[in-house]
Amino acid sequence: MSRILITSAIPYINGIKHLGNLVGSQLPADLFARYCRARGHEVLFLCATDEHGTPAELAAAKAGMPVAEYCAQMHRTQAKLAAGFRLSFDHFGRSSSPQNHRLTQHFAGKLAENGFIAEVTEKQVYSHADGRFLPDRYIEGTCPNCGYDKARGDQCENCTKQLDPTDLIEPRSAISGSTDLEIRETKHLYLRQSALKDDLDAWIDSKTDWPVLTTSIAKKWLHDGDGLKDRGITRDLDWGIPVRKGEEEWPGMEGKVFYVWFDAPIEYIACAAEWAQAQGLDEADWQSWWRTDAGADDVRYVQFMGKDNVPFHTLSFPATLMGSREPWKLVDYIKSFNYLNYDGGQFSTSQGRGVFMDQALEILPADYWRWWLLSNAPETSDSEFTWEKFQGGVNKDLADVLGNFVSRVTKFCRSKFGEEVPVGGDLTEEGAKLIAELDTRIAAYVAHMDAIDIRKAATELRAIWVAGNEFLQTAAPWTSFKTDPDRAASDIRLALNLIRLYAVISAPFLPDASAKLMEALRCETADWPGDVGEALAFMKPGHSFVVPNTLFAKIPDEDREDWAERFAGQRT
Ligand code: 2FM
Ligand code: ZN
Repeated sequence: MSRILITSAIPYINGIKHLGNLVGSQLPADLFARYCRARGHEVLFLCATDEHGTPAELAAAKAGMPVAEYCAQMHRTQAKLAAGFRLSFDHFGRSSSPQNHRLTQHFAGKLAENGFIAEVTEKQVYSHADGRFLPDRYIEGTCPNCGYDKARGDQCENCTKQLDPTDLIEPRSAISGSTDLEIRETKHLYLRQSALKDDLDAWIDSKTDWPVLTTSIAKKWLHDGDGLKDRGITRDLDWGIPVRKGEEEWPGMEGKVFYVWFDAPIEYIACAAEWAQAQGLDEADWQSWWRTDAGADDVRYVQFMGKDNVPFHTLSFPATLMGSREPWKLVDYIKSFNYLNYDGGQFSTSQGRGVFMDQALEILPADYWRWWLLSNAPETSDSEFTWEKFQGGVNKDLADVLGNFVSRVTKFCRSKFGEEVPVGGDLTEEGAKLIAELDTRIAAYVAHMDAIDIRKAATELRAIWVAGNEFLQTAAPWTSFKTDPDRAASDIRLALNLIRLYAVISAPFLPDASAKLMEALRCETADWPGDVGEALAFMKPGHSFVVPNTLFAKIPDEDREDWAERFAGQRT
């Protein structure tokens, strides 16, 4: 059994996340964490809120709250929604934690000591209309790379190119729209990641099993154009982690904070420290996940994120860790995602377009969303949410296939044999065939889950559910019961055990339905099936159960139409 560290990209604090955000990091990370735990691995699954930067300041101002208070409140909101979606974080931390302050300042100090920080006097955009320096993302203009006219000063959303505000064509203030901008001089710190280019290149080359999406983005930023650029890691803001060299002051950096993208990934480490503190554990306990001199050598570290986050996780963050010249654990595998679109357009937080996590849970329980989103995860290309597709997926897979199987088997058993696993009969030919098929299919499912091929895993899981229905159709216990009740008893015994197997292997996708089934079957142990024949004989004759309530209700056309209309506009 291995030790597996799993992190999801940490969501920005400013507002509730939409389903596109959810399926791009937190949800697949949870699927994998649940699966790894079910396979008996020791898992540490971490996520947090990303609380610094201008967006947090502005959102707080808009809410009329001090920024610290706003962040605390939004953290609670996001934690509650994560719990609603059954995201099984071992800890949901905060990038504003004292642990992250300490670690971020520590890394900056080490990087400076090792010559990886440059102090640069630079020109920064000052907006007269707004009376302030404009942080990169509050300058908008046309992307020099692709021509997109709403590119931000830090990155183009359209082509993912990392930008500097001065790269933008026809820049304007994103706050006021003003073009009355002046360039003023000020000193900032730069992470000299270009000095680590060869190390990064070799490291990425060694990751031959990474998804193409991840390596292609990383390679692009390493080699395209002028190659890997040094990144500014300080900002003129009030809210953030004060710039210090470890525990010392940093002359000339008074009043400045670290750039949010410098401290956010360090929160992955700080979050482990927060976790240890919350659990009453020692420093050594979290360090055993993060420091190779403290036991992290045997840890497999897997990160989940949307494609726009890839450059920071393949280049800037590893550069921070490598440049510290300390034995920090580097990521072993980066699972990245394309975008989920919404009904012919994009999900958009700023425009309030799409379905947001709170709204989703108001209309349907978590498992419905989890199944559809994961089985349509934007892995190899962008994918699209439409209400028709959602209704179709839920009704077919969950209600017609899985739910219907459970209902037919348990109700038939109750009516003919009572609410207990029936006695009598030997394994039938159909039963043996089912076991053989499941042997192959479960092995395939496991291989896809191990490889974090989510859509393939979902397709195989669906096929495993379908196999049960086909077995029931061919075995037809309602017919055999009339002439050969022992035969029907054997097939139903197998089918009841199959429900238990479904509950166990589907739990990473459908934790609530799985728990409900295990409870109805009065089963406590949920060991992952080894030998399928043995797993399908787990509940012995006489084992009592109850018929569960409807597992999944179908989505009627009226609901679909209502929701399509309700979520067509802009969230206010
Ligand atoms: O894209 C986002 O939502 C960022 N807040 C992700 C940060 S991930 C990491 F760096 F911590
Ligand atoms: Zn662009």
